[in-house]
Amino acid sequence: MNQPLITLGIETSCDETAVGLYHRTEGLLAHRLYSQIALHAEHGGVVPELASRDHVRKILPLIDQLLTEQAISPSDLEGIAYTRGPGLVGALMVGSTVAQALAWGWGLPTLAVHHLEGHLLAPLLEPGQSLTPPYLALLVSGGHTMLIDVAATGSYQILGQTLDDAVGEAFDKTAKLLGLGYPGGPAIAEAALEGDPEQFTFTRPMINRPGLDFSFSGLKTQVRTKLPAQLTDQNIADVASSFEHTVADTLTIKCRRAMLQTGYQTLVVAGGVSANLCLRAELQQLADQHSWQLNFPPLHLCTDNGAMIALAGSLRLAAGERSQPGPPLARWSLESLPPIPA
Ligand code: KG4
Ligand code: ZN
Repeated sequence: MNQPLITLGIETSCDETAVGLYHRTEGLLAHRLYSQIALHAEHGGVVPELASRDHVRKILPLIDQLLTEQAISPSDLEGIAYTRGPGLVGALMVGSTVAQALAWGWGLPTLAVHHLEGHLLAPLLEPGQSLTPPYLALLVSGGHTMLIDVAATGSYQILGQTLDDAVGEAFDKTAKLLGLGYPGGPAIAEAALEGDPEQFTFTRPMINRPGLDFSFSGLKTQVRTKLPAQLTDQNIADVASSFEHTVADTLTIKCRRAMLQTGYQTLVVAGGVSANLCLRAELQQLADQHSWQLNFPPLHLCTDNGAMIALAGSLRLAAGERSQPGPPLARWSLESLPPIPA
């Protein structure tokens, strides 16, 4: 029998129930995602208990559908990777229990994946893209904003991070102030298309202070205080556009600073906010000015998905790593991960 080379990935850390199949040599075979956005939208944000219950309903049918559609049987799998953390404990519990039960039943090893490592490796899901350390990574998601020195694959040192709100969180909270939908990132980006960024001026947080940390909670307060009493579609679009540019400028300034500090030639940007086209354009301009290489995940794989978990698990399983059963981790230091041997 041929050696099984496919990893099943399971992601349930927040509000997406997601699964993927990654083949060691052929790359991503397929992934499926069930988004709980509609479930949480009426509450204006993720309700943890509702998220856990919905993962329970969706995860097994989703795995079944993926394996059936791809005609993959358990004997084709080399292991099952699942998000162990960080995230909502109840939500993580669903994916980790299912992964460990299936692995036990099918006689497969498991690999506990760090959610942020999944995001960081997601550019490899773009066919033909490679990531050669050392490089600088900007991770921008709903829960995290970090500049990371990636000296070797799987080896992460945090150079700077947010002192308060994450960038995605700032998008979500500002969207709420503007009466736009949840999640706020895509809603602000869409509204901004019709806006004029010159109509409102927001201060770019912490750019004049040395160092690589961020702070985004004050930006939402700036928006609140400058918001006209009478909200029209046009001034909502103008605020959205100005907000988006302020965030993109701030991140770009800090990336430039970190790239010059490390002397690296490659910048990787990942996490849900890396889908933002305004941010992508500003970073591309910076990279072009310095002849730096710039890598993003495919646009549709920036936010949470099962493909990135299958990929991260596949790389670690291929390097001989195995995970012992353990509880989900709401918090989990990225810096504690062992490097992945080449
Ligand atoms: O990485 P992700 O799916 O979940 C976490 O691990 O947190 O990121 C979700 C975040 C949300 O805050 C969402 O508003 C933001 O990513 N986001 C965006 C865009 N698409 C998603 N922010 C700005 N522009 C976008 N196009
Ligand atoms: Zn995420």
